[in-house]
Amino acid sequence: MELLRICISLTVIWCLLEMGASNPQTFLLNHGCSMFNVTSFSGFSRNLNATLTELRGHLDKGMHFAVAQEATGFDPVYAMVQCRNYMSRNDCISCFSTASSQIRNCSAANGARVIFDGCFLRYESNMFYQESTQVGNLGICGGSTASQQSVFGTTVERLLGDLVKATPRIDSFFAASGEEVGGVNGNVTAYGVAQCMETIYEKGCMECLKVALANIQRCPPDSDGRAVDSGCFLRYSDSPFFGANYTIDLKPFLKTRQVEFILKIELCGKYNQKGCPDWRTGWRWRSSVAYNFIIVLG
Ligand SMILES: *[C@@H]1O[C@H](CO)[C@@H](O)[C@H](O)[C@H]1NC(C)=O
Ligand SMILES: *[C@@H]1O[C@H](CO)[C@@H](O)[C@H](O)[C@H]1NC(C)=O
Ligand SMILES: *[C@@H]1O[C@H](CO)[C@@H](O)[C@H](O)[C@H]1NC(C)=O
Ligand SMILES: *[C@@H]1O[C@H](CO)[C@@H](O)[C@H](O)[C@H]1NC(C)=O
Ligand SMILES: *[C@@H]1O[C@H](CO)[C@@H](O)[C@H](O)[C@H]1NC(C)=O
Repeated sequence: MELLRICISLTVIWCLLEMGASNPQTFLLNHGCSMFNVTSFSGFSRNLNATLTELRGHLDKGMHFAVAQEATGFDPVYAMVQCRNYMSRNDCISCFSTASSQIRNCSAANGARVIFDGCFLRYESNMFYQESTQVGNLGICGGSTASQQSVFGTTVERLLGDLVKATPRIDSFFAASGEEVGGVNGNVTAYGVAQCMETIYEKGCMECLKVALANIQRCPPDSDGRAVDSGCFLRYSDSPFFGANYTIDLKPFLKTRQVEFILKIELCGKYNQKGCPDWRTGWRWRSSVAYNFIIVLG
């Protein structure tokens, strides 16, 4: 009888997991408080509360990234939240709630940040929205050792290289992908995501992700690697940590891009009425020379 009950409850738990039970991904990657305290705690506390409330409002609407600021009084507060785009709305809000209570642990510090697997929260007394890569960037290697180490390592390397190249070119500044290759003992799959803050430019996103890549390239054969920085986030794993439906094809974003300008110099004889542009019937050309300028954007 006892055994039966355990079996039934296990089945229920398993079903919940299968149905995509909530997972706010609050595994802590990094946190920190500024060394400087605010001048007026009550004013600061009001500002912080107001910005956190505003951020929460944006997440309620289903956004994955938001900034909010209250610049009144002696202690302005600029705040930013970001959830990984594969997080559901509820998981994102739940991750944010955990981050906001944790960030209050910095009490009177005029700046603080908390970075989880699933989300990121930061506030400062100055505008920091444009920061890309900053001092303090770091890589975090961990987990167990992946099976088929060498195949896994090369797969991770290729996957991360593609993510770093493609993500700055994707409008949402977010990409999730998986790469599967055949190994001696069966297939090996590496999963990865890359993400940039939506307030930086493509160039900043690219620079930040390059630093992130350098920080976790050394991680394999560890099964997991994460890189955190002011402007971006990069992660790989040997197990899927995002829904399969978030995987995108990176290939279209890996092509060399070119912008082609064509400068046409139209020549026509000033007195040759036949060959010259005729304003009433449209344009006709006597002869033309075209120059092509191709700018390779990388
Ligand atoms: C900042 O405030 C906290 C709590 O009020 C206090 O413990 C800490 O010593 C202060 N730090 C500085 C640098 O004044
Ligand atoms: C800000 O929010 C915290 C936590 O909810 C609360 O303890 C504090 O009193 C609030 N501060 C102000 C000034 O409203
Ligand atoms: C705040 O810090 C204390 C002491 O370091 C810790 O015990 C507590 O869990 C922290 N609270 C949060 C919400 O992180
Ligand atoms: C193994 O990976 C290849 C692609 O590299 C794929 O075509 C094949 O279906 C995979 N096999 C299994 C058993 O998943
Ligand atoms: C992925 O699937 C989940 C449900 O399983 C759904 O809520 C979500 O909107 C889907 N996302 C995309 C990008 O298709």
